[in-house]
Amino acid sequence: MGSFANRKPHAVLIPAPFQGHINPLFKLAKLLHLRGFHITFVNTEYNHKRLLKSRGPNALDGSRGFCFETIPDGLTPIEGDGDVSQDVPSLAQSIRKNFLKPFCELLTRLNDSANVPPVTCLVSDYFMSFTIQAAEEFALPIVIFFPSSASLLLSIHHLRSFVEKGLTPLKDQSYLTNGYLETNVDWIPGLKNFRLKDIFDSIRTTDPNDIMLDFVIDAADKSDVINALSSMFPSLYPIGPLPSLLNQTPQIHQLDSLGSNLWKEDTKCLEWLESKEPGSVVYVNFGSITVMTPKQLLEFAWGLANCNKPFLWIIRPDLVIGGSVVLSSEFVNEISDRGLIASWCPQEKVLNHPSIGGFLTHCGWNSTTESICAGVPMLCWPFFGDQPTNCRLIYNEWEIGMEIDTNVKREEVEKLVNELMSGEKGKKMRQKAIELKKKVEENTRAGGCSYMNLDKVIKEVLLKQN
Ligand code: UDX
Repeated sequence: MGSFANRKPHAVLIPAPFQGHINPLFKLAKLLHLRGFHITFVNTEYNHKRLLKSRGPNALDGSRGFCFETIPDGLTPIEGDGDVSQDVPSLAQSIRKNFLKPFCELLTRLNDSANVPPVTCLVSDYFMSFTIQAAEEFALPIVIFFPSSASLLLSIHHLRSFVEKGLTPLKDQSYLTNGYLETNVDWIPGLKNFRLKDIFDSIRTTDPNDIMLDFVIDAADKSDVINALSSMFPSLYPIGPLPSLLNQTPQIHQLDSLGSNLWKEDTKCLEWLESKEPGSVVYVNFGSITVMTPKQLLEFAWGLANCNKPFLWIIRPDLVIGGSVVLSSEFVNEISDRGLIASWCPQEKVLNHPSIGGFLTHCGWNSTTESICAGVPMLCWPFFGDQPTNCRLIYNEWEIGMEIDTNVKREEVEKLVNELMSGEKGKKMRQKAIELKKKVEENTRAGGCSYMNLDKVIKEVLLKQN
């Protein structure tokens, strides 16, 4: 092994196998790479194939010391072109059952390789908690990366108390609509004015053996163990928002060709945005996992058509439950060149385009932080997981958004989009979003608290000698 390769610290990063988890860890990998780490980024075979397809093989070439490896996901292969999101509960079960062994085999293989430096540290998504055992077996320092808000982390660490208090599982489905979810959550210090409906959505289950509730409680228990064992305190390093940390790193453009989108990006929408007035376009995107019924899609479609504002709407091929999208010719004529529909886009570039004036979003944490980094106010339609919590933060805590009812109606979409784009409330929210963007930039530039926390986690954990 060459002496240069020997000296470099080697970080192995493993995201949970979902688009919304791959993107932020990939950003962190880039930041670590620019701070001198050799990187191995581990995807599942399924996602790696999709990356190869969407980005082309050159984008994954490891010659720069930024390498990609894979492990199997243990699921039965999906028929067809494999360009769809996998089932979340099935993956959650497989992560706990099947991932540890191939991950340890990979670490052994990397350590035996003459082409890369020996592995010196692990960075693992919070929901890939089997990595804690791998870190122990290989005596490696590990950073557990939590890819969502501090409020969510706090509530997840109390999830067990919701079960112990008998608040979840719900007795029956009627509890979803009878006002029960408005119950105040007043026993978690730090969560101000939170209600049951603002907590991680797995508590809405009626199933005593709910896979996702169990999966998340298990991950929380495992990371509690880490905290208890940790000899270094404080062991919590708030960093982010990652888009802003990255944008303020001058050398980042060296890594522009490295991307993590699993779907092929349609860049024509950027040209289309060029033809629109500044701040005039509503951007609509529900992320990589959200699905909706054909009826809900139609309510959004006619709400958007009726509000008379230009809009860019990303409709993933698997967004609508039960098959492909059929939008009537009446709708297509109605929107003419005022509306553009595409299947996947370079979201951060879109959000930062001057023509964008508002974002109709499902409130995934990445979409939320990317919108904040672009200073764009939001209209929220949370779907699952952390999204209700993020939605609460957006409209209640930061006042940079409004919420659409779960039971979406075209009249409400029309009214709220108009308010967001040209109403008094929208103006105030835009102002606040721009203030928040500035605050974020201060915290993420050299010397800012987020920037310093990244330095700290590198020095205190990742470069720590065992
Ligand atoms: C999932 C969860 O749903 C989310 O709540 C959690 O916080 C992370 O994991 P997802 O639903 O896909 O993620 O939403 P989000 O967190 O917003 O992540 C989507 C990512 O894909 C973003 O980084 C976004 O920029 C990117 N994206 C999405 C595109 O680049 N183009 C698109 O057209 C759509």
